[in-house]
Amino acid sequence: MLNIAVLVSGGGSNLQALIDAAEAGKIDGRIVTVVSDRAGVFALERAKTHGIPWTVIPTKGNPDFDKQLLAHLKDHQVDLVVLAGFLSILSDEVIDAFAMKIINVHPSLIPSFCGGGYYGLRVHQAALDYGVKVTGATVHYVNNVVDGGEIILQKAVAVQSGDTPQSLQKRVMEEAEWIILPEAVAKICEERDVKHAKTCADQRI
Ligand code: GRF
Repeated sequence: MLNIAVLVSGGGSNLQALIDAAEAGKIDGRIVTVVSDRAGVFALERAKTHGIPWTVIPTKGNPDFDKQLLAHLKDHQVDLVVLAGFLSILSDEVIDAFAMKIINVHPSLIPSFCGGGYYGLRVHQAALDYGVKVTGATVHYVNNVVDGGEIILQKAVAVQSGDTPQSLQKRVMEEAEWIILPEAVAKICEERDVKHAKTCADQRI
């Protein structure tokens, strides 16, 4: 079973999708900590309601954020870090320490509408401004390029006439993000378990 850390900055609906999947036994992993980069966000209430340990490590005015986050992840023996609506950019130090062990959900079909400055409603505004008829969500590994890591899962969502950034954001969450994020986590947990079992068998441990 993998130890999962979920990093959040806001409402935490993607965190909720992960909690629900874990509680339903769809993920062979446990959420051992929820970390927010700001206090008072609703995502932390969700962690409290489900008895999941949580903490706030602020990024604002905190030059030690990366060191504190790394220490926290190590303390909790975290195997997989999930960025679920996490708005801060992680340093190379953190990304390198957890290479191919950090994933992110982005509310567009990468490589469209992604990279620096594309977050929250801005992503959906950009999709509407461009006039695309299909958008969606992507779960990908996190590397040193913003939204540039290997893609794990994607799901398309139709844009409807009369959509606003808000209505499109809601549909992309409901029809894509809340589905593919838990699926991607389940897939990684399964693959890591198989790899671990194989290593144990090879080494006869
Ligand atoms: C989601 O659209 C996510 O893809 C984006 O920010 C939003 C956060 O939603 N990065 P929530 O906090 O999970 O409700």
